[in-house]
Amino acid sequence: MTTVQMLSDDELNRAWWKEAVVYQIYPRSFNDSDGDGIGDLRGTIERLDYVADLGVDVIWLNPVYDSPQKDNGYDISDYQAIYGEFGTMADWEALLAEVHDRDMRLVMDLVVNHTSDQHEWFQKSRQRDPEYEDYYIWRDGGTDEHGNRTPPNNWESFFGGSAWEYDAERGEYFLHLYDTSQPDLNWRNDAVRRDIFDTIEWWLEKGIDGFRMDVINLLSKVKGLPDGDPDSEWIGAEHFIDGPAMLSYLEAMDEEVLSDYDVMTVGEMPQLTVESAREYAGADGPLDMAFHFQHTKLDYDDGERWSVGDWSLPELKRLTDRWQNGLAADGWNTLYWENHDQPRSVSRYGDPENYRRESAKLLGTFILTLRGTPYIYQGQELGMTNADWETMDDLRDVDAINHARELLDRDGVEDYDDVKDIVGYRTRDNARTPMQWDDSHNAGFTDGDPWIQVNSNYEAVNAADQRADEDSVYSYYRRLIQLRSDRDVLVYGDYMGLLPDHESVFAYTRSLATEDRTERMLVVLHFDGDTETVDLPVDYVDATLVESNYDHDDADPGTVTLAPYEARVYELFD
Ligand code: GLC
Repeated sequence: MTTVQMLSDDELNRAWWKEAVVYQIYPRSFNDSDGDGIGDLRGTIERLDYVADLGVDVIWLNPVYDSPQKDNGYDISDYQAIYGEFGTMADWEALLAEVHDRDMRLVMDLVVNHTSDQHEWFQKSRQRDPEYEDYYIWRDGGTDEHGNRTPPNNWESFFGGSAWEYDAERGEYFLHLYDTSQPDLNWRNDAVRRDIFDTIEWWLEKGIDGFRMDVINLLSKVKGLPDGDPDSEWIGAEHFIDGPAMLSYLEAMDEEVLSDYDVMTVGEMPQLTVESAREYAGADGPLDMAFHFQHTKLDYDDGERWSVGDWSLPELKRLTDRWQNGLAADGWNTLYWENHDQPRSVSRYGDPENYRRESAKLLGTFILTLRGTPYIYQGQELGMTNADWETMDDLRDVDAINHARELLDRDGVEDYDDVKDIVGYRTRDNARTPMQWDDSHNAGFTDGDPWIQVNSNYEAVNAADQRADEDSVYSYYRRLIQLRSDRDVLVYGDYMGLLPDHESVFAYTRSLATEDRTERMLVVLHFDGDTETVDLPVDYVDATLVESNYDHDDADPGTVTLAPYEARVYELFD
């Protein structure tokens, strides 16, 4: 019998955002209501019943602000206006009301490390308008021995190439950690911080329920902008990730604005560690939780993102233990496989050809039974897969296009066919193919020409079929979301990892003792396409199989024989 510390209801530290399951909508690819091939807000409203039926509590909406769409809305030209092709402010207000009517909440994206170069602030800054002159990070460059201009330091853009662009109008370089069209704001400037805090307040006053904060630990850059280590994964990162003023900027944001509202905040934080997660999002930290990226790098070959590598299950266990245990007493995890930046999880960690349905359910079991807030990305609940990217022309993602060009410049690379496997596997376009609603033309996404190709498997993988099928990935997700909402143990329970070195079976228990009841669950996940018999090191007197992606009569979790990509969730009784 395991002893679990008895907790009072107070000690659970309940919060609605801990008990929530979040569903992420990428509006451009969700549903098009007007036939222009681009998803929009009215289209999103048309599909809200689908989202509510799934049983989720919160919708995170990717950026819908006015933008030239160089990086699909992460390049904002006006923080207080809606991008015309998505609709109007009235459409957005209708969306908020419709979300609230269905007892769900709406979280907006907050993109304040950079703006678009079309933002009025940048236009005025490049003209040295005294009020805006210092809104961005401008520097003189140098010259090389041939008299050519050189950038102020060796920092790299995440999308490839130098992080500096020379602006002829102003006669200086500006910093852009992402695309050249996304200049970084100068957070040292009090006026920038004031303007951003005002913007945040403006949206909160409209009644939204929180923010997902884009690359939020990049705001503070080290003074003097020194060169970075040329061998690091992202050159310069040690000088712009978790910079010296980072925590104080977020604390000010929290004190001055966020703390006046009952909202959730989740920071997207490249290179986040457990220690810094506790500082940013522990009990005393300014945010509620943060996204780390450690598991999204498991399939990098030799630390390189533009590669297709093997991944190891013991490594996933080590990092899951690290995060589950590291934030057990202080902090709160985010649980995700997919988002608009990640390829489809079945194509990375499952088997899209032979066991698509089984492996999609297995991956869903993982994020819905760990401690933290689960985030489901549109289509993940259908087991959508990566698409084929046959030619460069099919690509839409600025990141993939830039990196494909870099790969094409390498020695020995002839043409796109030589890099197609890597680019096709890694491109963010995989997440951005239209949502597969049904088996009609364009998967029911649009009557027009879709802005990006529809995945060719939409006749076999779509929401209409899956909603009518109890055995579908969708129905399985729906049941597990319900189970999680019914069971405090799945939200607040202690985590204990089992079988740390097993190559293909991941198992863990969740345990919770409150004044009302003691609950214990066991989750067993077989990450492989063969059959595996394993002894599970758990004590119990009785057990019930609560959920599985296979049919079973046998409910004994002692020695189990697991089918390909089998997932089981047991309740254990002492
Ligand atoms: C974040 C977003 C990504 C965007 C980048 C720059 O990583 O999720 O889509 O390209 O920030 O804003």
